[in-house]
Formats: sequence, C-alpha cells, structure tokens
Amino acid sequence: MFYYGVDYYPEHWPEERWNLDASLMESAGINVARLAEFAWVKMEPEEGHYDFSWLDRAIEVLGKHRIKVVLGTPTASPPMWLVKKYPQILPVDRDGHIMGPGGRRHYCYNSPEYRKLTRKIVTAMAEHYKDNPDVIGWQIDNELGCHESNRCYCDNCLIAFREWLKKKYGTLENLNNSWGTIFWSQTYTSWDEIIIPRRTVGSHNPSLLLDFLRFVSDSTIDYQNLQIGILRRTCPDKFITHNLMGLFGGLDYYKLAETLDFISWDNYPKFRGDVNPAGIALSHDVMRGVNSGKPFWVMEEQSGAAGWEIFGPHPLPGEIRLWAYQGIAHGADAIVYFRWRTCRFGTEEYWHGVLDHDGVPRRRYEEVKKMGEELKNLTDLVGSRYKAEAAIIYSYDIRWAFDIQPNNPSFNYMEQIQRYYAGLFNQHVPVDIVNPLSNLSRYKLVIAPSLYLMTPQIRENLERYVREGGTLVVTPRSGVKDWNNVVTDKTLPGELADLLGVEIEEYYSIPGDERYQIKGIGPEKYSCKAICELISPKSAEVIAQYEDGPFAGKPAATINRFGNGEAIYIGADVDIQYIESLLFWLITRCRIDIIVMGPKEVEVTVREGEDGVFIFLLNHSDKAEAVKLSFPGSIEEIMLEPGDVKIIKR
Ligand code: GLA
Ligand code: ZN
Repeated sequence: MFYYGVDYYPEHWPEERWNLDASLMESAGINVARLAEFAWVKMEPEEGHYDFSWLDRAIEVLGKHRIKVVLGTPTASPPMWLVKKYPQILPVDRDGHIMGPGGRRHYCYNSPEYRKLTRKIVTAMAEHYKDNPDVIGWQIDNELGCHESNRCYCDNCLIAFREWLKKKYGTLENLNNSWGTIFWSQTYTSWDEIIIPRRTVGSHNPSLLLDFLRFVSDSTIDYQNLQIGILRRTCPDKFITHNLMGLFGGLDYYKLAETLDFISWDNYPKFRGDVNPAGIALSHDVMRGVNSGKPFWVMEEQSGAAGWEIFGPHPLPGEIRLWAYQGIAHGADAIVYFRWRTCRFGTEEYWHGVLDHDGVPRRRYEEVKKMGEELKNLTDLVGSRYKAEAAIIYSYDIRWAFDIQPNNPSFNYMEQIQRYYAGLFNQHVPVDIVNPLSNLSRYKLVIAPSLYLMTPQIRENLERYVREGGTLVVTPRSGVKDWNNVVTDKTLPGELADLLGVEIEEYYSIPGDERYQIKGIGPEKYSCKAICELISPKSAEVIAQYEDGPFAGKPAATINRFGNGEAIYIGADVDIQYIESLLFWLITRCRIDIIVMGPKEVEVTVREGEDGVFIFLLNHSDKAEAVKLSFPGSIEEIMLEPGDVKIIKR
C-alpha cells in the first residue's frame, strides 16, 4: 500500500472541525495521518493522570474516513508541569548554563528522571493503543538532535561519558595512549579526572572531542532504544520509525536506523528560498543509504511557505507534486505533508501547510489532491528498490573529525560529497550513499571523498573492491589519521599507499580565495582551492598536473591499476568542472549504463521491483525539455512540460 498523508494536530483545532478536515483529506486521497508528537500535556495533564479520550475520538473520526494513524511519542516537548517538578532534566550548554523551557527539546538524553518519565508516558500510550487497528505504527520522539539539542554538558552527561569511555578503552592507560594525553600534561590518573568539553582556554584534545561527539550520538540512540524496547514489547505488530533530517550531522544515522523498521525523514526543499534539485536528491539518497537501501517514508514534506519568524517563498504551481515525486523516485513508499493546516499560534505560525490559517482548500490542496488521484495507479511500485551503479562513501566519524579540524577554512567534507554527487547527478548517473565498510561489490564506480580517518578494515574493504575489478576515486587528506583522531606515522596516504600507488611528498593549505590551475587529460583548464598535495607516483600514472601554485608542473591526480580494478587519487580540492570531466571519462571507462540523454535539469532514476521496472523522469527546469531514453534495441523521445514528472513502467 502506498501511504499518502498529512501531519495533523487535532489538538490545535475545535473538535467540531475534525470531521470536515477528515473528509477533505479523504477526498484528496489521504490515507494516513501522523498525530500527537507534541501533545504530551494533553495526554498527561498532570503527572500520572492520563487522558487519551480526545485522541481516541480524533483517531475514530479519521478512521471513519479510512485514514490510518502513525502516533508520535511526545517526548520532544516536555510539558511545563514536568519541568517545574523535575528541573534537573534540563540540558546544559557548553558554558555551563542551563537551557530553560520555552521552545522544545529542552531535556538531557542522559537524565535518569527524564528517562523514567519517558518510560511512563510511552508505556501508557503503548498500552492504550496496542489493540487499536487504526494505529499502524509509531514515530519515536521528533527529529532527535534537532537544534543541536543532544550536545548536553551537564553532570549526568559527564558521568555517562566516563562510563562510555571505560567501556570503550577498558584501562586508563589505553585511553591515555589512544588520545595522546601526554600533550600539555593532560594525562588522566583516575577516571573521575576525565572532563566533558565545556568551554576552555584554547582548544580541547581532538581525540576527546571526537569521542564526545560519538558519545552524544550514542546517548541519543540509546534514548531512542529505550522507547523502542517498550513499543516492541507492547505492540509487536506495529512498525516503528523516526523522522530524520537528511544531511543533519549531529547523529550517526547509520546506527540510529539499525533498530528501526525503516527510517522516515523531513524534506523542506524551499525552506531557505532557492531549490537545489541535486541537493534534495542527495538528501534522499543519504536517507535511503542509512536505511540499508530499503524504501523509506517522507514524514514531513513541504506543502507551503516555510519559516518561523520570517518565511520563505511558497511552492509554485507544480512544485509540491514535483518534490513529492522526487522522493518516490528516490525510494520513498510514503509521502506525508507537513502540515495539514497552518497553525494560528505558537512559534510556527508562518510554517504553512496544505491549508492556510482559515482552513479553506485552495491551490495547494488541489495540487495534493491531483497527486492523490495519480498515486492510485502506482501501487505496484511499493517495495521496489532503487537502482544505482555508482556509490559515494559517507562517514559520520570523518565528518566529525573535519568539524573538529577543518584543515583549511574552505575545505569542507560535506561540500565535497555534494560536488562529486552533483557531478554524477548532472550526467544522469544514480548514486547510492554507503558507509565505508559496506559491501561495494555491486558498484562499478565508488567515490570516497577525503578518507581522513582510516582503519585496516576500511583499507581491506576498499582493496577488495578494487582488486575484484572496481573503480575507486579517493580525494585529498585521505589516510591521515587513525580512528582515534591521531595522525599516522606512515607516509601519506598511509594505509592507502599501496592501493593508490602514490606517496604524498607535501600538502599545502591554500590561503584565502586563491585558486590554482589544473590541467587534465584534455586541453581544458580547471581550478582547485583550499588544499593541494604534491603527489609522487610510485606505481600510478599521472592524469592531471598543477599549472601554478607551489607545485606547478607536478602531478595533481593519478590512476593506479590494482588487481583487476583502478584506483584514482585526486590530490586537490578540485572544482565541479574538473569533477564532471573526470567522471565523464570514468563513466565510459567502467561502463555505467546511462539510459537517458538530455539536459541535466531532467533528473532520471530507476526503481526495480517484482512488478516491473519504473523509470522516473523529473523536469526541474522552468522550460519544456526533451530527452531521449535508450532501451535495448530502441530509443524513445519524451517531452516533459516545465516541472513535469513522467513514470515509465517496463
Ligand atoms: C521540523 C519538525 C516539525 C516542525 C517543522 C517546521 O521538521 O519536525 O515539528 O517543527 O520542522 O519547523
Ligand atoms: Zn546532560
């Protein structure tokens, strides 16, 4: 079943309105609603006194209109009575200041009292709804980690951090050696000397900082798992999901996803104004990647102008539909719009939904409805898998290590991922996002931007992939450090030297906005910024050279034969033009199947399932565009109106 839904807040509206809402939803093809994720105070108005009667009635009204419900556990917004009674649950910032209530997410994930209160409300909800057939699943909390809320520096977290470290390192000696605490006399002589990185004079030890970010992530996931445990025991036949935030970096989403049935995520393409189709596509692919490639849900899909104190431009005609289909094209089996009706009060007065404040259905409603009708013909798509022959490696640990030490102010791990992704997107090559230890054997091409942290296991995984015939691209500042954020004593690229067939003689931080020229295989000139490295090829061949800068005339990129495959090393932070030309060359070289010829504004993806192959064509341009689709033995020309979507089933 394809789920098509809205995020609905019955507690914000008079009960007399609910029936009209539900019937408008039903006429638009809506068959699921997410409810209650911020309604703690209405479900538990005082401690231990539960009132689910209003929610029962709302679920019943929706049920009469054949709309199922996903219930959110309400722990993202602890009520005022709770904070007054248990002020010790409040989080503490880096400066040691308590973060008061007033917004949301004002709780510490390691607070024993908050965990107890969480257990109580989640158990009460689970018991109450376990046999309700209209409730099909649960959403844990809401956007865990949002507003950086999981970086808490309170004493509970300090104690939990020490325990986490004890488990990880076993002995203090091991911790001291792994972190290099001899530097600046930071050697710990007892566990209770270990600090949490509150504001200090100068900067903290980078190994401590990286472990703190891992601890923060693990604490959040542990808090999530506390809720999952209760729900699994009480409601074994309902699914459990959580709404993630795309490219958000405050949590290891690979780990977070492990205990969920599937992940969902919140997609706001036009929140800040301009829409970047490749950027949204990447977010979908990251989300599918952390979900092990399975279909996912979009739990909040933009349906109106978005913003709090100020709001951005609203979706133009056709955009809601285009973005929703883009999600489906990337592997979503459900689209849920945020929110049904724009709220009249509170922080999000200007975060617009399908209906405006007055509740009158207008253009945006009609667009949602039109798509609802179309989706009725698409049910055989559910469960089908995204098809990609290229992959990009994405690691949270590496991202965090670069957050701690960017190396150069304009060197950015995520920006590199975005640039290489765009290079493939612009040439109609679908991509999977994978973690460094994933099985890579199904890919013809793998891009591994800046493998800054390295382990022997990752090296082996990459070597196996290339040895067996894969093509791998690695970019600068790779193999620099071990997993504890300590620099290797090997010549760079450290563990990767054999695979890449090079040694790095020198690396250089490019000042300010300076750019150096690079010449590749063709006559064109390209540029690099931020970081450049002097490569000394051992077994590798040179494929690009610096034209100026400190390494003028020297190699900037190489290719190395390794087993049956090839490993390419790019020694500089190169521009998108170089990336596109390199990828163009590699796409043919490793025989990636390109099924569409046409402008880059037309996006193409493929989903394969038991009921067939679905080819999605999405025209992100404001002009009509023509593309040629090549199938074995035939070429079809297809016209797409501005903003239009076509799904071809084979
Ligand atoms: C997020 C949250 C929602 C809402 C919207 C709009 O995605 O999950 O609760 O706050 O943003 O701000
Ligand atoms: Zn805390």
